[in-house]
Amino acid sequence: MILTSATRKVLLTLHVMSSVGWAGAVAVFVVLDIAVLASSDAQLGRVLWLALQAAVWSLLVPLAFASLLTGLVLAVGTVWGLFRHYWVLFKLVLTLIATVVLVLYVQTISTVAGIAQDPAMSGMDSPSALLHTGGGLVVLLLTTVLAIYKPRGMTRYGQRKRLEQRKQTVS
Ligand code: HEM
Repeated sequence: MILTSATRKVLLTLHVMSSVGWAGAVAVFVVLDIAVLASSDAQLGRVLWLALQAAVWSLLVPLAFASLLTGLVLAVGTVWGLFRHYWVLFKLVLTLIATVVLVLYVQTISTVAGIAQDPAMSGMDSPSALLHTGGGLVVLLLTTVLAIYKPRGMTRYGQRKRLEQRKQTVS
């Protein structure tokens, strides 16, 4: 199934907005994590966890799934294919890893945000939060670079399919 040009453009717009938007949202939390670790304000850590809690279901998770879903439809519905080009395959693996880590991290965020609701709590800075947001940002930047450069390498399956298509057009 090949998408019509109009449908592809709509999907590509949604794909770029959700994927790059996801990276932007994660970048905000990287900056907040660093601010918390660098600050001597004991309350700032609480604010970070409450902000993460507010953003995770309303923004981060929906953007992650929108990126994954639109990426999958674009891959299957265009000449790129899902398993033909290494750059598409790598993006799929990286996005899946980032999404799984995010979903697993939701439970931690909920637990810690529950504790952070108590204004008496202090010293809630967490290097592990920076590890998650920073690692996630690196992965998302890598997928963006792959999307823009689209390195040429084709999988064996992709090479076979291309050969089959060439034979079909000759005969
Ligand atoms: C966070 C993860 C992702 C990011 C940051 C991202 C980013 C982008 C960007 C910026 C483009 C536009 C490139 C251009 O038109 O030159 C693009 C296109 C594309 N992406 Fe993604 N993407 C992500 C996930 C995925 C996934 C999971 C898949 C599928 C397995 C995928 C498949 C594609 C395909 C096939 C295109 C080309 C569509 C076309 O030209 O019709 N992407 N991506």
